[in-house]
Amino acid sequence: MPLKKQAANEALSSQSRLVPSSGPVWPVWYDVLSPLGSAVHYVASLSPKFNWVGIYVLKGKFLELGPFMGAESEHTRIRVGQGVCGTAVAENADQNVPDVRALDNYLACSLETRSELVVLIRDSKGKILGQIDIDSHTPGAFGPTEEEAVKNVADELGVLWPA
Ligand code: SME
Repeated sequence: MPLKKQAANEALSSQSRLVPSSGPVWPVWYDVLSPLGSAVHYVASLSPKFNWVGIYVLKGKFLELGPFMGAESEHTRIRVGQGVCGTAVAENADQNVPDVRALDNYLACSLETRSELVVLIRDSKGKILGQIDIDSHTPGAFGPTEEEAVKNVADELGVLWPA
């Protein structure tokens, strides 16, 4: 076989070894080396109104803060039932709060925050794994378009959740 052709064949076969024949298909935003970090980065890029984006991981009765973008938060560990984040788990429902100042059960990360969206991440059986939490300095920042975009990411993360 001519050398050139042999090299081309070898290149092709070594490439084909890198292509999985089956298995998960990564969404465009997904970085296998930092799945939660890339999700945060992607969600933060969706809207200039998203001023803080983080992922909380559910561990027993607590939510633990994973990767986030935005100001440091003192709420790195939240008990289920506390605040907007803990309420989402306790009520097994996403939370869209157009005006956080109207809430009693609210944990302030920043005095500038005016609205908040929490979208639960679930596995295929519906079990809660964690949540995507977004704060905005704009009241009512989360309309149906924003909610749907974030839910899509949460759904994808539920499938690709790192063990
Ligand atoms: N406001 C949240 C706490 C988390 S911070 O927004 C980062 C809450 O009430 O649960």
